[in-house]
Amino acid sequence: MKITVLGCGAIGQLWLAALSQQNPSQQPHHIQAWLKVPQPFFSVHIANFQGKVFKRSFPANNEKHLAESELLLVCLKAWQVPDAINHLASQLSPHCTILLLHNGMGTQDKLFSLPNPILAGVTTHAAYQENGVVYHKSQGITHLGSTAFEPDTKKADAEKLSFLADILHRALPDVTWLNDIDTIRWLKLAANCVINPLTALYDCKNGELSNHMTQVYSLCDEIHQVMEHDGIQLTKQMVIDYVMAVIDQTSENSSSMRQDIRADRRTEIDYITGFLLDRAKMHDLVLPENTHIYRYIKSREEEYKRLKPH
Ligand code: NAP
Ligand code: PAF
Repeated sequence: MKITVLGCGAIGQLWLAALSQQNPSQQPHHIQAWLKVPQPFFSVHIANFQGKVFKRSFPANNEKHLAESELLLVCLKAWQVPDAINHLASQLSPHCTILLLHNGMGTQDKLFSLPNPILAGVTTHAAYQENGVVYHKSQGITHLGSTAFEPDTKKADAEKLSFLADILHRALPDVTWLNDIDTIRWLKLAANCVINPLTALYDCKNGELSNHMTQVYSLCDEIHQVMEHDGIQLTKQMVIDYVMAVIDQTSENSSSMRQDIRADRRTEIDYITGFLLDRAKMHDLVLPENTHIYRYIKSREEEYKRLKPH
């Protein structure tokens, strides 16, 4: 399969490495990297990929390869997605499937009306990049599917794409296709709405949120109200249990938002709590706890934007 990986940070490099390591009995994939600043080649360096050091150079930013790609694997931060995809849209084949693999929700509304099938993925792999090297911290599961944001005609076509889960599963297991990806996306959103801003606020590891349970419960309560209005059929207790399980399983992690705030980088808050608040507004719901924490993160971003304007 011809594939372009758009965004070659921690997650993008994992997929480049995984897709290039096909079993010899299988047809190899033709993969390229796509970088913001065009380069002919891109070097991937993963310190601990499947127990070994992975180092390899991949072709990059080849427009012919992009035009012929059957899959665009989007491994960008949520706020980078609309501009990056809209910029490439005219160069893509209308048959190229776009798979969005970011945290948060709400990027699809900001894409030009593309003919391409768009799938969303939720991944629990954990990786980070330090001094040009990627560290695959923990194996995870990736769920894929077509979202309710797709029009019905396109959704029906997208459901024919479940074979992609098998292709991706052979490269970086586990990958599972879900006809209802939105429930798991909302659960992941709930975990991100609670864990990410709270760990940034208290400058703590995920596990230390057990000291802030009153806030965890009130955020979950508000999130559940929006989920109910959006037709997601889960009880409040299920949402709390999911969020608590993620806190427990990632107790030693420093969340991505805490890391972004510490490094004075733009966070994904607009596509996490920001998306939640947009949906709440649509349903005439008021979410005081989530609004408070959203404003706190935005004010932190504003602080360093003022000090380091780009
Ligand atoms: P990341 O390391 O920041 O990777 C994003 C990459 O995209 C960076 O290399 C960035 O380059 C590049 N980029 C930005 N704009 C671009 C453009 N217009 N065209 C091409 N490339 C562009 O982020 P990540 O950790 O891989 O995460 C990607 C997404 O997966 C995020 O939504 C994250 O929340 C989610 N996720 C991550 C993990 C994890 O463990 N890392 C786990 C689950 C989900 P510059 O840095 O030069 O801008
Ligand atoms: O963004 C993150 O850090 C992760 O999605 C999660 C699950 C909160 C674990 O740290």
